[in-house]
Amino acid sequence: MEAKRERPSMKKYRFVAADEEATDRLGRLLANVLPAGTVVALVGTLGAGKTRLVQGVAAALGVPREAVTSPTFVLVNEYLGGRMPVYHFDTYRLRDEDEFLELGPEEYFDGAGLTFVEWADRVVDCLPLDYLRVEIEVLGETQREFVVMASSSEMEVLLMRLERQ
Ligand SMILES: Nc1ncnc2c1ncn2[C@@H]1O[C@H](COP(=O)(O)OP(=O)(O)OP(=O)(O)O)[C@@H](O)[C@H]1O
Ligand SMILES: [Mg+2]
Repeated sequence: MEAKRERPSMKKYRFVAADEEATDRLGRLLANVLPAGTVVALVGTLGAGKTRLVQGVAAALGVPREAVTSPTFVLVNEYLGGRMPVYHFDTYRLRDEDEFLELGPEEYFDGAGLTFVEWADRVVDCLPLDYLRVEIEVLGETQREFVVMASSSEMEVLLMRLERQ
């Protein structure tokens, strides 16, 4: 099991979004490619577009857009009513990893939906072995770079599927 952690994937999927509509297209790609039970770690500064990307994924799955808000105050949101559920954590205001574990993240990780974790670096040791990491960089007012990485060779398959879309 440890060996997996020692061999992070070198493969990356890059997506530059010129505007929010392009971010929605990446959301749609993810919604098409990711199987239920996929965990996505979101990393990027305040206002980078972590929540905005989750909105794009949820919209592509058929969740009403208004349902998707920043879970900063509730720590985890569940968006139902789409093709599969979306679980959305925001760890920004958490005191520590124990507080995250108290939310029972494993149940969501193993659940029937996609799980997104904002500020995932704060709880990186609590993530499952298999997850995708999305690093978001602000390139301009509406331009964002998304770099998707895999935590394991198993997850690299998803990067290849993203590339093929
Ligand atoms: N191409 C783009 N993709 C995503 N967001 C964009 C884009 N262009 C502009 N924006 C704007 O950037 C902001 C992104 O905010 P969002 O709440 O998604 O950030 P966040 O990374 O979740 O921040 P926080 O850490 O505060 O939760 C929004 O105001 C959105 O309208
Ligand atoms: Mg956010």
